[in-house]
Amino acid sequence: MNCGVGEGEGKRTGRKKGREMEMKMTIGMGEHDTGQALKVSGLTRIYGSSCPDCIRMTGPDHGTNICRVCGSVVACADISFDVMPGEILGIVGESGSGKSTIVRCLYFDMEPTCGEAYLRCYGKGNIFQVSSQEKQIIRNLYTGMVYQNPQLGLKFDITSGGNIAEKLLAANWRNVGRIRERAGELLERTEIPLARMDDYPRNFSGGMQQRVQIAKALANDPDVLLLDELTTGLDVSVQARILDLIKDIRRNTEAAMVLITHDLGVIRLLAERTIVLKNGRIVEAGLTDQILEDPQHEYTQLLVNSVL
Ligand SMILES: Nc1ncnc2c1ncn2[C@@H]1O[C@H](COP(=O)(O)OP(=O)(O)O)[C@@H](O)[C@H]1O
Ligand SMILES: [Mg+2]
Ligand SMILES: [Zn+2]
Repeated sequence: MNCGVGEGEGKRTGRKKGREMEMKMTIGMGEHDTGQALKVSGLTRIYGSSCPDCIRMTGPDHGTNICRVCGSVVACADISFDVMPGEILGIVGESGSGKSTIVRCLYFDMEPTCGEAYLRCYGKGNIFQVSSQEKQIIRNLYTGMVYQNPQLGLKFDITSGGNIAEKLLAANWRNVGRIRERAGELLERTEIPLARMDDYPRNFSGGMQQRVQIAKALANDPDVLLLDELTTGLDVSVQARILDLIKDIRRNTEAAMVLITHDLGVIRLLAERTIVLKNGRIVEAGLTDQILEDPQHEYTQLLVNSVL
């Protein structure tokens, strides 16, 4: 499907356009590959039958993601970004702005309406176009996901060790002893007492459930980690420990991370670069410090001023 987005879509102010151009140049969003772990281009997801006006009738200029003509929801449209190995890219925006849709498309939980994505470690082209078998391989070997809701990422009636083992089995680990050893390593790394390996996530606190999800996501040393609101709803002290864990992962791996949050504090702490979403569109993108100190888009200004 031609989503009709891209060139000239939406009205943009000269200043913001300038920053976008600058970002494209500094991070190499052009055709030439400059080593991005993940590169996403024109990602669009529409819920509903869709019509030729869906894109034109939605977005920040209209203040809605619902098409007035056909009622479809344009969850995200024309989303392009890239992430370097070892880098954390923040995606920030209010509830319903399309954040989860982006990572769920990248983890193949749902299909995009159109768009492309490329992984440096997977040289066979646009990952949205490959067979479902290939998608399983990409999902299991090259990417890891932490869902906002741990019930989506974990089976609550399988032990924490078993949850991690699932990811290892999917990557063809077969030796039970080694699987157990690796699960133990991962639990230790995410600061879960080994004694809890044979306990069920349903008996764990929210913070611990998120740490089991992180352990599982790390199981196969992924090149790309997708983190969807991983601290939302947790106590501040529990949040702090998890954010420290993410910093630790950044120090000790080359994983590129896409960090979704509506919390600018989390963005400030962790993300080198940030994109700001509103009504399913990127309204601002750039270095996190710049965005927080000198937001260009009216919406980002509102976000920043309401928090700081
Ligand atoms: N299965 C679905 N069917 C219809 N609309 C959906 C569905 N899932 C999400 N949406 C809509 O898509 C938009 C983006 O949702 P989401 O990606 O979950 O946003 P966020 O994670 O930023 O809160 C929202 O308007 C949401 O209501
Ligand atoms: Mg969400
Ligand atoms: Zn429509």
